[in-house]
Amino acid sequence: MAKVVVVGSGIAGLVTAVRASAEHEVTLITKDVLGESNTHYAQGGIAAVTSTDDTIAEHIADTLVAGAGLCWQPAVEMLCEHGPESLNELIQFGVDFDRKQGELSRGLEAAHSHARILHVGGDATGAGISNALVQTVKAANVRILEYTLATEVMLDDAGQVNGLEIYSSDGMHVIPADVVVLASGGAGQLFRHTTNPAVTTGDGIALAYRAKALLTDLEFYQFHPTALAVPGSFLISEAVRGEGAVLINNKGERFMQRVHPLAELAPRDVVARGIQQEMMAQGGDPVLLDATALGEEFLNNRFPSIMAYCRKVGLNMAAKPIPVTPAAHYWMGGVATDLFGRTTVPGLFAVGEVGCNGAHGANRLASNSLLESIVSADRAIEVLDQPWPEGFALDRLKDQPPLATIEMPSISRMEEDLQPGKHVVDRVELQTLMWDLVGLARDHAGLTKAQHELNLWRPVARASRTFADFEDANLLRLARAMVAAALARLESRGAHFRLDHPETNPDFARPIVVKKA
Ligand code: SIN
Repeated sequence: MAKVVVVGSGIAGLVTAVRASAEHEVTLITKDVLGESNTHYAQGGIAAVTSTDDTIAEHIADTLVAGAGLCWQPAVEMLCEHGPESLNELIQFGVDFDRKQGELSRGLEAAHSHARILHVGGDATGAGISNALVQTVKAANVRILEYTLATEVMLDDAGQVNGLEIYSSDGMHVIPADVVVLASGGAGQLFRHTTNPAVTTGDGIALAYRAKALLTDLEFYQFHPTALAVPGSFLISEAVRGEGAVLINNKGERFMQRVHPLAELAPRDVVARGIQQEMMAQGGDPVLLDATALGEEFLNNRFPSIMAYCRKVGLNMAAKPIPVTPAAHYWMGGVATDLFGRTTVPGLFAVGEVGCNGAHGANRLASNSLLESIVSADRAIEVLDQPWPEGFALDRLKDQPPLATIEMPSISRMEEDLQPGKHVVDRVELQTLMWDLVGLARDHAGLTKAQHELNLWRPVARASRTFADFEDANLLRLARAMVAAALARLESRGAHFRLDHPETNPDFARPIVVKKA
């Protein structure tokens, strides 16, 4: 029986905790209330092949096309092949997928060749999955620590995980652990506009980085094309476009047909940039999503949460087009792992959005993220108590030798450096800088400016940090790492668009690795 500590309570953390608890002593730590995560807010659904006119080969092909040449094929195959089994697993956990006459209802989303998106409560898929798994975890033999932040992965002299330092209202403690599974999601809070909740400060990726794990694909951050253009943002699911809603400019003209043959259902990066261009052409005003042709009754049934949120802010999607804008949504990059979620630090796993095994490449296919979370959690369970293979190395990096390996200087050196001109990191300033200079379109001048600014900022000294200060230190580390990777990729590919290098270079279809010096 191993001592397993799981960090995070989205789908990946909850599935890992409940399944590991059958054989191991499991502690699950989570920063907020159990279940508060990106998963909870997912709308569109989970992609899996469940109909006879669809095939795994087509799901694989769609994922590879969206990934813009950077996907690692074995990871894509594993993801899509496990789709039907993972779906059944969720059904066993009590997730009640929407059905029509007993048959699973399947929605269409951008860049999918078939309607294969399963959903719960119309557009409340994440909440449906999260609620069922939270109940399952509460009933399992899992010690749950809420409102607790992981602050450091502890390693023994051989570099093997032996504990996790945590911070809560009781202060700092170390939990002994044979295995730490990071399942703490992404870092939407790096950007001024995001569809992610406040907890997404990239803590897991930063923890792994501090433990000297390799990170990959950090320059690929996905911006969802359609967040409601109101303060605080709110995701308007791709499924709304999948059902037939169209994007129009302020003259009432559809513009995506000029940009891509798939128009509103083109890959996400293409639609997001198409919207950004149109917004620039109309002085920064948001574009409009016109769903009026779908009718109020259909919209209320299919998208009850979106309709309710729109009503709350004085909008009615059935009566009038609603203003939308891109917003930061999902990090394709993260802690480099093998197909079992193993990182380059023995005893440290990364599953779900925090990890990166190459399945999403440069741009994740819609609704592949919930799927990837459960598949990666299930694979990690298979090897959880096994020693790291002798001479462990990541097969992806053998198949796709890194384009560059960047060694980042530690920010702790900056903590001690009290030169004039340095100041403590401010979250809103950081988010604004990242949105303006490291967002949907980047160039050398903007990235260099961002790098310069970020190098002037330092975190609050460790001994006097609050919860939010720890998060800000993590955001600063990750912002610096993302900028370094974005500067090094001298091409445009998927979600990484360089105004000064708009072409895709076939020789660059390889990951960039970032690690702590
Ligand atoms: C959406 O509902 O549009 C989001 C789905 C996803 O990010 O995969």
